[in-house]
Amino acid sequence: MPTLLKIDASPRGDYSVSRNLTTIFTEEWTKNYSGTVVERDLFKTDLPFVDVPWMMGAYTPAEQHSPEIQKTIKISNDLVDELLAADHIVLGTPMYNFATPAITKAYIDHIVRVGRTFSTSYEGLAKGKKLTIIIASGGVYTPGAHMEAYNAESGYLKQIFGFIGITDVNIVLAGGSNALNTGEKTLPQVVEEHKAAVVEAAK
Ligand SMILES: Cc1cc2nc3c(=O)[nH]c(=O)nc-3n(C[C@H](O)[C@H](O)[C@H](O)COP(=O)(O)O)c2cc1C
Repeated sequence: MPTLLKIDASPRGDYSVSRNLTTIFTEEWTKNYSGTVVERDLFKTDLPFVDVPWMMGAYTPAEQHSPEIQKTIKISNDLVDELLAADHIVLGTPMYNFATPAITKAYIDHIVRVGRTFSTSYEGLAKGKKLTIIIASGGVYTPGAHMEAYNAESGYLKQIFGFIGITDVNIVLAGGSNALNTGEKTLPQVVEEHKAAVVEAAK
């Protein structure tokens, strides 16, 4: 039975476009694969920035680690183990300032680890996984949209996951949530607009 790792990065709970869409993805995936789902809510995870004890933990052998280093590197080790154990991954993330939010970047800094997810010769070690990234944004960045070139998030996420060996990546651009702020559309309407792409991605 395959395992799906569902990662959410929005702070907005039920009002989040990306969370609503990762939930739809997960329901569809479960129908299609009957596998196990592991949920990783980044807003319920303590994700410290990289500091010196973290570097010592990441770049020195485990048997040399002091209790402080062991404590600091533990969350990174746990996140890497969780990622490596997954067959499929769905990552739901907002776009902030045309890029990926700090919380998603903090997660990436914990899972991109030499000797764990990439080798010293820069070969990705997290191979054979399928990743769907759902990016919720206020504006629209689909091909041909006038703001398309401002999207600095899709390319980066594709690149960094590719670097660790996850090359089967499907990005769903769930743009247009500005219509919620203006009252032009409701949350269910915005979610519905992206549902078909998410259902397709969960196949
Ligand atoms: C701090 C911040 C920065 C944002 N920057 C952008 C942006 O650069 N481009 C954009 O289209 N939307 C931007 N937005 C809007 C969010 O991407 C949008 O609300 C999206 O739906 C958030 O995802 P969520 O609904 O899953 O929380 C920003 C929102 C916030 C709070």
